[in-house]
Amino acid sequence: METVKMTEEIKTMPTGLYWQGKKTEVDRIVLPFQTIETINESRATREKEKKTGADMFKEEANANWHNRLIWGDNKYVMASLLPEFAGKIDLIYIDPPFATGADFSVKMEIGDASWTKEPSAIEDKAYRDTWGRGLDSYLQMMYERLVLMRELLSENASIYVHVGPNVSHYIKVVLDDVFGMDNYHSEIVWRRSNSHNKLTDQYGPIHDVIFFFSKTSAFTFHPTTRPFSRGYIEERFKYRDNHGIYQPNYLTGPGTRKGESGMPWHGFDPTRVGRHWAIPAKLRELLNIDTSAMTTQEILDECLKAELLVIPKKEGGQPMYRQYLNEGVPHQDVWAYQPNTKGVLYGTDECIDEDVKWLEQEEEKLGYETQKPEGLIQRIIETSTDSDSLVADFFCGSGTTGAVAEKLGRRWIMADLGRFAIHTTRKRLLGIEGCKPFVVQNLGKYERQYWQGVTFKKRSDEQIPLYEYIEFILKLYKAEPLAGMLHLHGRKGKRLIHIGAVDAPVTFAEIQEAIAETKKAGQDSLDILGWEWEMGLHDVVEKAAKASGVHLRLFSIPRDVMDDRAVEKGEITFYELAYLDVEAQQDKAGRFVVALKDFAIPNLDLIPQEVRKIVKKWSDYIDYWAVDWDWNEDTFHNMWQSYRTRKERKLELKTDAHAYETKGRHLIMVKVIDIFGNDTTKVLEVKS
Ligand SMILES: C[S@@+](CC[C@H](N)C(=O)[O-])C[C@H]1O[C@@H](n2cnc3c(N)ncnc32)[C@H](O)[C@@H]1O
Repeated sequence: METVKMTEEIKTMPTGLYWQGKKTEVDRIVLPFQTIETINESRATREKEKKTGADMFKEEANANWHNRLIWGDNKYVMASLLPEFAGKIDLIYIDPPFATGADFSVKMEIGDASWTKEPSAIEDKAYRDTWGRGLDSYLQMMYERLVLMRELLSENASIYVHVGPNVSHYIKVVLDDVFGMDNYHSEIVWRRSNSHNKLTDQYGPIHDVIFFFSKTSAFTFHPTTRPFSRGYIEERFKYRDNHGIYQPNYLTGPGTRKGESGMPWHGFDPTRVGRHWAIPAKLRELLNIDTSAMTTQEILDECLKAELLVIPKKEGGQPMYRQYLNEGVPHQDVWAYQPNTKGVLYGTDECIDEDVKWLEQEEEKLGYETQKPEGLIQRIIETSTDSDSLVADFFCGSGTTGAVAEKLGRRWIMADLGRFAIHTTRKRLLGIEGCKPFVVQNLGKYERQYWQGVTFKKRSDEQIPLYEYIEFILKLYKAEPLAGMLHLHGRKGKRLIHIGAVDAPVTFAEIQEAIAETKKAGQDSLDILGWEWEMGLHDVVEKAAKASGVHLRLFSIPRDVMDDRAVEKGEITFYELAYLDVEAQQDKAGRFVVALKDFAIPNLDLIPQEVRKIVKKWSDYIDYWAVDWDWNEDTFHNMWQSYRTRKERKLELKTDAHAYETKGRHLIMVKVIDIFGNDTTKVLEVKS
């Protein structure tokens, strides 16, 4: 009886894919982007310029388009891109996290040693959001994002979704749901590792799956090829003429036809053997004449005249054509590098599928655990885009998709929520010769405002209650609220606390007020908690605090406070601002050089023990630094930089000399990114 009822219920349900908590309505919160940096010059270009003296770069800098590297959760990033980019992206490749914590682990280098950076709280949150409720939450996360991606795709666009076999079958069905089964084209099996030897209960798990879907039936597709195998060529292509080597091949196809393609020619009647004439397009091309108005038999006559056919000696035998060796075999849907197959392919020394080999010790390897090979993405971009296409990857990791798009001259947009992913990608792009200008963006204070609105605003007509925000931050800082003060919000033991606003940087004036109020209250220690800081504030406040006898500390409010689960778990860490000392020196010719003098991370106990052991000098903490010679108190324009790469561990501690074209006052902004991916800035004022 029970079974009958169940069957009835299933019959009445619409066909579809279900998971617990499925929500098909997707939020589209549009937040404005903030440009935090513009990067116009690659290291390689700069070095080339230095050598040749050529200003290769100016022309490109004039172009309006800027490629975009965006730091943030792709759910908000994609929704915020919709107003400008709906229907405009021509190819999306994504490689979302699909199972293990390795998704966020990064191997980092300090001096000559290395250590593995564990996921940050934000990255950990993404991981838990994805897998917190197992497959259900994973499918919901993917569904929401795929819906947004579909909206961003242009009418002849494609999407490639790279996943592991542990989730691929579910994702295939979600993709069918979002893009339609008719727009499914391929399930590519990509060999991702060498063979495993010790296996007791399964065949060696060595492949990932890449699904290829299009938005409509009118998608861009330029199939690429691989070389023929040497054995095939040696066995078949035994003849040679002045066009090259060839094999005799059939000019007919199976099945009879009524029209001229079924009629006899040169004593051979295709209909008698159940076939018809099928002249390959390649053969027509070789004729080099317009064949559109010619009959099949006339074309065959022309082919014969051009010595492109092989006529059998036996009367009535089937004529063949000379099939010359062309580009190779179109790529199939198994992309599997085969080690030790050197010499197997015709005309090359490469092994089978060497261009899509998994990464081992290759030069392109950056220490990003889940980094994919450039060759893999290259096949995809070459097949599914044109030269003016826009390519995107919203789970960009170490930036492979953008790096390949850049090298192939495509425009690109990339996003990732990992601070380190953004930093790794930025450095990777800088290393590409001739890299075109790009911007680094985030949703910055707007994301915080949105969070504050959602978290603290109870009714839409109500002003955001400030005290709730303050109370919340104080609680995370393990401090008590303080009543009756104007600029002081709380107390932790003997230390008084001031909390900066969500949507504005903490200013020098604001800190001065807090210092004055601390003194008035007869206290001598003050902590300032802030999201962002007025530039160059560090030294001045320190001097002001010292002069007034107040012990001052500045702490960053981490992005993790926006994460409910990190908050629930009490995992929030407030980092004390790093200390940076820089100096601008002027040479006899009036040019300026900026030198790094010191860098310190105040709370050493926040630094993992294994890192502290490796560090020998202050500059070991610095991974990258950059200079904007003419900072306009807005976006940081990267005009010079020095950074460590896996190969080149040395960091310059002095810039090249810079000559100003105009006389007067200039602000120089120096930005340092430490080995944890945090940035610290400092502003210097010079007169030229
Ligand atoms: C498997 S890795 C991508 C690796 C990349 N294909 C490469 O070649 O380096 C997945 C990336 O997705 C990012 N990610 C996970 N959830 C995200 C989200 N909600 N928004 C943006 N990025 C996310 C992670 O930070 C990680 O860098």
